[in-house]
Amino acid sequence: MPTVSKTEDVKKELDQLIQGVTSARQLMSEIVELLHERMLRYNWVGFYMLEPESGGQPPVLVLGAFQGAMTPHTRIPLNQGICGAAASSGKTVVVDDVGKDSRYLACSLETKSEIVVPVFVRGEVVGELDIDSHFPAAFKAEDRELVEYCAALLGRHLEKSPA
Ligand code: SME
Repeated sequence: MPTVSKTEDVKKELDQLIQGVTSARQLMSEIVELLHERMLRYNWVGFYMLEPESGGQPPVLVLGAFQGAMTPHTRIPLNQGICGAAASSGKTVVVDDVGKDSRYLACSLETKSEIVVPVFVRGEVVGELDIDSHFPAAFKAEDRELVEYCAALLGRHLEKSPA
């Protein structure tokens, strides 16, 4: 019997799950729930969505659907944190040891590594998917691929039906 990796399995579950989804909000909740439940090293999983500049206030990342302990960082400016770095550069950021990254905003003392993947709509960053792990260097190439897959699912959904 061919062996299927865990991340490939979870991608298949995601493909099935999106069939029944009717809103972006529901899709975000389902994605964070599935990743948190199925991927044992994904200890905190959440979306931050970009609130655009308005009334002289700079753009800010606002916490959306998440699974895991409550975080003090519910609004993150683009010039702060690993989250701000991923959103402002439009690039996936993987940090193997958060203790060695001066950009890191602590969410839990137990967090050792983190991945943040931007979500794009028509080439523009509209948010991101952030995952923290209690294990150092938890995010390998296949994890990055899985998280980027999830972020792209949301981006495609938002392109078809905003909000
Ligand atoms: N660690 C993030 C902040 C968000 S919490 O991890 C949920 C950062 O450095 O931007």
